[in-house]
Formats: sequence, C-alpha cells, structure tokens
Amino acid sequence: MCGIVGYIGRKQAYPILIKGLKRLEYRGYDSAGVALINSNNDLNVYKTKGKVSDLEEFAGQKDTSGTIGIAHTRWATHGEPCQANAHPHYSSSENLALIHNGIIENYAILKERLTQKGYTFRSTTDSEVLVQLIEYFKDNNKLDLLTAVQLALREVIGAYAIAILDKNNPDEIIAARKSSPLVIGIGDNEYFLASDATPIVEYTNKVIYLEDEEIAVIKRNEKLKVVNLNNVLMNPEIKKVEMNIGQLEKGGYPHFMLKEIFEQPDCIKDCMRGRINVEADNVVLSAVIDYKEKLLKARRFIIVACGTSWHAALIGKHLIESFCRIPVEVEYASEFRYRDPVIYPDDVVIAISQSGETADTLAAVELAKKKGAFIYGICNAIGSSIPRATDTGSYIHVGPEIGVASTKAFTGQVTVLAMLALTLAKEKKSLSLKTFLEIVKELNQIPQKMKKVLDMNTRIAELAKIFTYAHNFIYLGRGYSYPVALEGALKLKEISYIHAEGYPAAEMKHGPIALIDAEMPVVVIATHNGMYEKILSNIQEIKARKGRVIAIVTEGDKVISKIADDYIELPATIECLDPLITTIPLQLLAYHIAVCKGKDVDQPRNLAKSVTVE
Ligand code: G6P
Repeated sequence: MCGIVGYIGRKQAYPILIKGLKRLEYRGYDSAGVALINSNNDLNVYKTKGKVSDLEEFAGQKDTSGTIGIAHTRWATHGEPCQANAHPHYSSSENLALIHNGIIENYAILKERLTQKGYTFRSTTDSEVLVQLIEYFKDNNKLDLLTAVQLALREVIGAYAIAILDKNNPDEIIAARKSSPLVIGIGDNEYFLASDATPIVEYTNKVIYLEDEEIAVIKRNEKLKVVNLNNVLMNPEIKKVEMNIGQLEKGGYPHFMLKEIFEQPDCIKDCMRGRINVEADNVVLSAVIDYKEKLLKARRFIIVACGTSWHAALIGKHLIESFCRIPVEVEYASEFRYRDPVIYPDDVVIAISQSGETADTLAAVELAKKKGAFIYGICNAIGSSIPRATDTGSYIHVGPEIGVASTKAFTGQVTVLAMLALTLAKEKKSLSLKTFLEIVKELNQIPQKMKKVLDMNTRIAELAKIFTYAHNFIYLGRGYSYPVALEGALKLKEISYIHAEGYPAAEMKHGPIALIDAEMPVVVIATHNGMYEKILSNIQEIKARKGRVIAIVTEGDKVISKIADDYIELPATIECLDPLITTIPLQLLAYHIAVCKGKDVDQPRNLAKSVTVE
C-alpha cells in the first residue's frame, strides 16, 4: 500500500527512484509519480495512473535530470485512481511537492479552512490538503520548511509518512512519519528514503527507522538531523539491515508468488534454525524462555491479526490450547480495536503480522498495551512497527515476501506458533515427554515433506485447467484443517477473483449445502487424522448432491480417493502439523487457476501487501 522512495546525493536520482518504486510494487498500487529538482532549480513533477512502467513511458521524453527527488506509488483511499490524484502533489505556488502515505482524517476541515483563505485544489485527495497547509504556514509566517512542516503536522489528525521537496532549497528533503512506516538509508554522501528497506538494500545496509512524530531533515553533504514536532533533537539508532538482493528477485520463476511457494521448505528450515535441536530433543524460542514467568501466569492469550495472519492465528489457538491448556481467543484486529475489549493485566496478547505494519494490528497492540497486557509479536519484516511496539516476540525469518497473496509467511507463522506452544508446554509440563518428542521430531521433517508436496506442482497445474470455468468454490476442513480451508479459499479469491468460501465441514449442512450442484467444485481437506471418518461423511453429503469433490488426502488413501472426483495425495504427518503440508497444494491450485485465467498473480487488483491504513 502506497510506496515512498527518495534520494539525495551525487548520482542521478530518477533511475534510483524508478528502481525503488519497482521494488515496492509488491505493496499494491494504482498510480505512480516522481518529483525532481534539476540543476536550474526547476521542480518537475510527472505522474500517471497505472504501473511504474506507465510512468517511465510518460516521463521518458521529459527532463528527468536532478540529483534530488521523491517518488510514490499510490493506493487510492480518498479520490479515484487518476493522474490528478496521483502523488507528488504540488503546493499552490508549485514551489513545494509532497508525497504521502496514510490518511489525513481531518482533511475536510483543513480543506475548508484553506478554501476560505483562497486556496484551490487540483485533486480530491487528503494529501494535497497537507502540502497546501504546509505552504500556507511557510509563506504566511515567513518560516523555513521544517518549521512549517512541524506546525502543519501538529494540526493533522491521522496517519502519515511524507517527504517534501522545496524548489528553492534543492539540497534538502524533509520527511516525517506517524503510524506509517518510513526508513532512511545512509550511504556514502547520499541518503535514501523508502517505505521499507527493499529499495535501499542494494545501496547501503545502514538504516534509521523514523519513529512516530519524528521529522528527518535530510541535507546534501550534511549529517542527518532528526527532530520531533516540538523541534527537540532526537538521537535515532543506526541499524543494520540483513537482506540481500537475491531475496528480492524472481530467481527464474515467472512470479514471486510461485517462487515464494517453492521457497517454503528452505524458509521453514530458516525459521527453525537455532530453535529446534533434534539431537537434544529440544525446542527453544528464546523470547518464550526470557518471559516464561509472564507467559506461564497468563490468564488467557488473545491473538490479534488480519487476513492470512488471522488464519495462522486460528491454528495457533488449536496448538496452544492443546499443548499448553491455556485458553486462547482469536480476534480480527480491526474489530478488537474498536470494541472496548475486556483485557486483564495478566492477559498476553499475541500480534501476528507478516509486514509488521498493518494499521489495525498495530492499533490493537497499542490498545492492549494501554490496558496493561503483555504483548508478544510474531512478524516477518525485521524492524517494522509491530515488533518495535511489542514487549517481546519472535521473527518468522522467511525472507521478504513480495507476492501480495501471502504464502511462505503463513507457514512461517504456523511454525513459530508450533514452536511457541512446544516451548511453553515444556516449561509447563503440559505435554507428555513422548508426545513432545514426537512433535519435535516431526516438525523437523516438515521441510522434507514440503518438498514432496511441491513435486505435485505439474499435476496440480493440470487439475487447475479444469476449473477456470468456475464462478464459485467451497473449501471444507475440520479441526486443524478448518483454518486451512479458509486460507485456501482466500488465496483463490485474492488472485483469481473466483468467489470462494471456506467453511467448517460439519457446518456445511446449516446453509452452504444449498449451493451444491454439479457446477460446484468443493475442495475438502481429508487427510488421515482423527477427523477422517467425520469428513468422509461430509464428502458423502456433497456427492449425494452431485458436487464435484477435490480431496486433499494422505498418501495411500483407499477410501476418499475413490469417492472424490479428483484427489491430491500428500505425505503423512501428525494432525497438529497437517496445516504445514495441506496448505501448499491449495496455494498451488489458486496460483495455477489464476495463471490460467491470465490474472496479475503478484499484484491482484484492489489488494495491497501492506495495509497501512485502517
Ligand atoms: C493484506 C495482505 C494479506 C495479509 C493481510 C495482513 O490484506 O494482502 O496477504 O494477510 O494484509 O497482513 P500482515 O502483514 O499484517 O500479515
């Protein structure tokens, strides 16, 4: 969702900005733009609806020179996606240009005030209001840009990450953030600016993460200065980013999503590295050990998350409740934050987020913190906002996820939740040693088994061709497989735009069964575990109504594979780890159906990777 890139230094800014925007494409966007100051101090703004490649075509014949510039990809919130609403936005005099990620909630009041003072607007965005407000303070009170920005931001209610250029000061970028991420890369006599570190890592690994209400004064050939809204000098810590370029490229795969599906065996190994020691029969998630008193004394756990992370949370509930006998509630972060939830000081809130930037999850964390709960984060993006807001936590360490539809992050989250539940269960002695060892041993086998599942790719691609006609799909599962059914349906919706419903298989007869006819494909997760007989009955119910069953079964299955119209055989594992295996064919099925339908798999319409607005 909205990407920001900036550069100031000795090199030409335009190619760096364009490359940076491309690195951020995965966040999802509908228009793009760039602002540059050339050697005559002209402030040139070029912007267009569509992709970064459309912007390149548009700006191609124009003057894109300059060693200072800012660039943006916009995901529409206020005002339709069109050229006028794309960023950067000029101020009235066209002396300033601003890019903005976030939402200015009180923009209507501010706009009204500025209109009364004679300002006119070229767009219907909230962001343009902010640049006009800054110019108003600057010109009216004869202030420098920094002071004008400080005054303007004090008037603003909402979320922002902004960067501003002033044509009369071609040696300075002012950048600020509140609730929307912003990272500054420190190079050799040059600075980079971005929504996350992905556009920066090929130039430098030294970064500063701006905190809320901090403003960076980024000047050519000068030391970086960070102040707050009251002009108090801050002392930001320079951090080292561990990410390499190979991780950001497709590595021979046609799409990032497919690459990320195939990376899962290695990702899960990375996720478990140093945490599982099979020889010593042990699992140690250090954050759990460090805070074991707090966690063991918990009255209950509340897991907050959105989207795919919420599905991982549902599996986490099963794992923690069954291994540790601690009650767990799972909440959509967006509902939790506005419900005035009951939170006790001895509650532990677990926030799960791949990006670590989801606005609703971050707000849920802040709320729970205010109410005195202990907060544990499970995130992927290192140094992102949620890990910084939590008391402790565990990274999933699956590398940057670029495809908008989450795949490897999901299996990474489930793996961390399994390790969390195991570490805690060992401390609590709530699992027998035999069961504990059996699970540890099996967890260690998962990457190998995932590889076997990936060998089914060609078969699943063939199967997908049959279903491009479908307008609807139902996904069913029970127990640990119910969240997998939800996740399978979500994957299909997200990238193929086919309507799909995930349902607990037994609930089907209370409604969705009415939808079943010969046209309805029903994916049933029917592996050989404790629920096998029950799910067999559910499949019979579908077949009796002529539904087309695609069963996900365990290798060697002799019963369901015969009743189902199609089946995919998977290596056996223990029930509690089944989701790590059964999710993969569903990811592949959604992927191949979307490819058959010619959809933009990595950047599906209307979706954003990192939802930094509520
Ligand atoms: C967006 C993405 C989903 C993701 C959800 C939560 O909707 O498109 O793939 O599951 O946000 O994101 P998070 O980064 O908090 O896991």
